[in-house]
Amino acid sequence: MPTITVATQPSYEIAITPGGLTQLGAAMVSAGLGTKSRRTLVISNPQIWHFYGDRTLKSLTAAGFEPEYLLLPAGERYKNASSLQKIYDAALHHQLERSSAMIALGGGVIGDMAGFGAATWLRGLPIVQVPTSLLAMVDSAIGGKTGINHPQGKNLIGAFHQPRLVWMDPEVLQTLPPREFRTAMAEVIKYGVIWDVALFGLLESLPRLDGMRYLAPDALLEILTRCAQAKAQVVAQDEKEGGLRAILNYGHTIGHGIEAVTHYRRYTHGEAVALGMVAAGRSPKPWDFGPPRSAIAKTP
Ligand code: GLY
Repeated sequence: MPTITVATQPSYEIAITPGGLTQLGAAMVSAGLGTKSRRTLVISNPQIWHFYGDRTLKSLTAAGFEPEYLLLPAGERYKNASSLQKIYDAALHHQLERSSAMIALGGGVIGDMAGFGAATWLRGLPIVQVPTSLLAMVDSAIGGKTGINHPQGKNLIGAFHQPRLVWMDPEVLQTLPPREFRTAMAEVIKYGVIWDVALFGLLESLPRLDGMRYLAPDALLEILTRCAQAKAQVVAQDEKEGGLRAILNYGHTIGHGIEAVTHYRRYTHGEAVALGMVAAGRSPKPWDFGPPRSAIAKTP
């Protein structure tokens, strides 16, 4: 099954394994986790936990971990200081040590918040990203951007904190609400526009992209792999967004604005980014494209 290395310092792996959630604990041991502290805190939301909580706990326990869990409400509007405080309270309550891992089991909101909790509790614990949404698989679980929203804007509070492992099981997408799957395709198409012309060709060749049931498992695997490779390549060249990484923000300047002014209630992130990409594509100015190509070429 595809494994992609993200060549940051230190490097880490993205593994895409259909049915692999049951092997999460073993994969964490292989990634060097659990040697000092066996305690782990899984952070998720009630909807995801309903489907995948048992499987996750069993996998961790079988590998020798002592897992605890915290469930936070789902939705971008809960990606805030109050949810973060709950992560700190749980870390304190369960006596996490600096070598204890946190695990984000969920979509982008859970991944961002758990990642930021891990970045800041005890000045930094390992975080394992287990994305359960298409959006998190192709974007937010990879690359170490973590954070919460400020009432005045999205992701204004945060830190770069690379995961120790990104563990994807595409089969969990079967329980993703159809709107979430469909609209996350905007981020997939984004990679085809900004980075991987072969991916764009693959997307054009497929009869339908707007539902998981229209994609053969090998096509989905190829899409996930190509997106992960694209993101890994960009992040390895520009981890802290000094230049090149801004290319990943294509469509996001307007997209984030749309989400913020509609209080994260009306549009999914993918819908907002799709609108942002259309607007950026129509603009005569490259103000939503990150640095110009000439500047990218000069980025050390
Ligand atoms: N989501 C854009 C980035 O990770 O840089």
